[in-house]
Amino acid sequence: MWKSLLATAAITIALLSPLAVVAQDGPTSQTSLAEQLVNALNGVFGVHPGMRANHPKGVVLEGTFTPSASAASVSKAAHLQKRKTPVPIMVRFSAGSGQPSVPDTSQMPRGMAVKFSLPDGSKTDLVVLSFNGFPVATAEEFRAFLLAVAASGPDAAKPTPIDTFLETHPAARNFLERPTPQPVSYASLPYFGINSFKFTNAKGAVTFGRYQLRPVAGEQFLTQEQLGTMAPDYLSSEIRERVRRSPAEFKLLLQVAEKDGKIDDPSIAWPDTRKQIELGTITITKAVADSQAAEKKLLFMPGAVVPGIEAADPMIAARSASYIVSLSRRAQAQ
Ligand code: HEM
Repeated sequence: MWKSLLATAAITIALLSPLAVVAQDGPTSQTSLAEQLVNALNGVFGVHPGMRANHPKGVVLEGTFTPSASAASVSKAAHLQKRKTPVPIMVRFSAGSGQPSVPDTSQMPRGMAVKFSLPDGSKTDLVVLSFNGFPVATAEEFRAFLLAVAASGPDAAKPTPIDTFLETHPAARNFLERPTPQPVSYASLPYFGINSFKFTNAKGAVTFGRYQLRPVAGEQFLTQEQLGTMAPDYLSSEIRERVRRSPAEFKLLLQVAEKDGKIDDPSIAWPDTRKQIELGTITITKAVADSQAAEKKLLFMPGAVVPGIEAADPMIAARSASYIVSLSRRAQAQ
């Protein structure tokens, strides 16, 4: 099973990104960057055999995606075309930390990953965070950021490496220091694609943009007092319970890039005033019976796209290559 998952991942990534093709060709700089990124994550969060190098704590659910009437005008991608039956999806919500035991009450952003199963048997993924804007602009800078965090333990001399890094990286400071209110539910948070993609419709018209997922139930957060009463796994328990009662829904939106605007710097969050196009509705209907078994078999990759969608930010290929490294290591440990 692992061999076929890895082979599919490698083929997908090779088809979809010129940068990622390099990742298949042996010990190239791109391959080593992917490994270095996973090593750097391990340096901050430790090695947890069999687990994801980042976002190891998660919960897997199932549902469907129904495209909006405007989706096909943006892209010819199969899941965005008008259809009689909705597209089956798998969803994984996760805690944004490399620590498997991180409590759900922690301040880290949350992750959401969606895998769409298309009628021809192919799959495409979305991998998003509940924070608008990444701490740094490139994968290389992300590695430098992680190394600085790892070298700034309690015994580090002042100024610590992360103090020095933050001096010249205001987006990273904002990421670390901005207070993040704690959600009532994984389904009461907005999520952001952060990296940009290029969308091409059936007539060849191109749109650049970033995904956003907006909770249909509205954004809801806990007070400090309520947070103090929450159990360490309250978010995974809550979402399982919520979908037992009724589906959890998100609107999938595309935030459109400004003409001639910079699209390949994920540390710059785009303002809400930018045009948004509704792409469809994600409806999460049930939790899988054995989430831990399900997540072991799943690989979500930001670069796993289908014709009509292309990566428009080099970080996407670097991310995908590092997700494959993480998968191969977690597979080896089982
Ligand atoms: C260079 C930047 C990044 C690196 C090196 C990186 C690395 C990783 C790795 C190694 C994993 C574990 C993959 C696995 O074992 O399946 C992961 C998971 C994840 N990452 Fe990233 N990441 C980066 C940027 C981002 C960004 C920009 C986002 C959101 C927009 C994001 C969201 C997530 C989420 C949601 C997961 C969990 C996926 C799942 O549920 O399987 N990451 N990341």
